[in-house]
Formats: sequence, C-alpha cells, structure tokens
Amino acid sequence: MFDSSDVQSVFSGNIAEEWEKKSRYINSLNGNDNMMIPTIKKYITSTSKILEVGCGTGKLLSQIDALTFGIELTGVEMSSDMLQQIDTLRFKNPVRLINDSVENFIDDNKYDIIVMKQVLHHIVSREQVLKKLAGYLNPNGVIIIMTPNDGYQKSILPFNPMMS
Ligand SMILES: C[S@@+](CC[C@H](N)C(=O)[O-])C[C@H]1O[C@@H](n2cnc3c(N)ncnc32)[C@H](O)[C@@H]1O
Repeated sequence: MFDSSDVQSVFSGNIAEEWEKKSRYINSLNGNDNMMIPTIKKYITSTSKILEVGCGTGKLLSQIDALTFGIELTGVEMSSDMLQQIDTLRFKNPVRLINDSVENFIDDNKYDIIVMKQVLHHIVSREQVLKKLAGYLNPNGVIIIMTPNDGYQKSILPFNPMMS
C-alpha cells in the first residue's frame, strides 16, 4: 500500500529537476497541450482567486497567470524539490506557494477556482480531500480536475480503490 510519503519521495530529487525538461522532447505542438485551459477560461475573471493543489513545478500556474491580470494564485505542493523549480519572478500576478500536503494545509482564504492536474490519483483519501477543498470555495466557486483512470494508476503504482 502506498501513502503520501511514497508520493513525496517519487516527486523529489532528479524527478523534480527533470520534470520541466520533458517538454524539450516536443518539437512542435498542434493545438492545445493542456486540456484544462479551455475549462479554466470559462470560469476565470480578472479578480479570480485560484488555488492549484499539487502544483508541481508550476507549469499550470504559469499558464493560468498568462490568461489575465488581477488574479491571485496559490499553489500547494508537498514536494519542496518540485516547488524549488518555480521562479515566482516570472509571474505577472501575485503567486503564493505553500509547501504542504493538501491533507494538512490550512488557509484563511477562499477560492473561486481550485485546480488539480494529474494529482487526484496520488491521493489516498480522495473523498475527504474533495470535501475539504469544497470548504475552501467561494459561492459559485468551482473545482476543475484532470486525472488519469484506474488502469493508468495501476500501471505505475499499487492502487486500492477501497481506500477512496
Ligand atoms: C504528476 S505530478 C503533477 C504536477 C503538476 N500538477 C503538473 O501537471 O505538472 C503530481 C504532483 O502532485 C503532488 N502531490 C501528490 N499528492 C499530493 C498531496 N497529497 N498534497 C500535495 N501535493 C501532492 C506531487 O508531489 C507532484 O508534484
């Protein structure tokens, strides 16, 4: 059985350092390389407060940052090595990074949009985490999730659906 400390060790050291380099193997892009962006565009306004859970090396945060001025961005990420890859000076909007697990993090803020990209399948208590995140939404706030299915999960890490 895996737990969050296994996940943290997977996303540390070399993996964290190499994470952004993967895109160098892409020579050309036809269309959108992030299927979440069109959905985020439907909900974002120029005053949105946005939380990304498991923000990794900040790729999605910087794509959201490029959409508009005036928003506030927060990223929660349990791996300090992944967070260290983020250069906050490259953001045009304020960005706050929190080195903690989504299970443990506590925040006084509420959010209009919460995003999770390729993270939910790493979480053991998914229902609990989603309920927690729902409590951090402003009225009319939304949670937008991209996650692989169980087949993908089983191919990379042991998975027990009974734990969800
Ligand atoms: C597959 S990576 C995706 C990173 C980023 N969202 C992206 O799409 O490039 C999963 C990330 O979620 C983080 N993560 C996994 N479980 C987490 C948890 N319980 N709390 C916070 N971060 C978590 C991992 O450390 C890792 O950086």
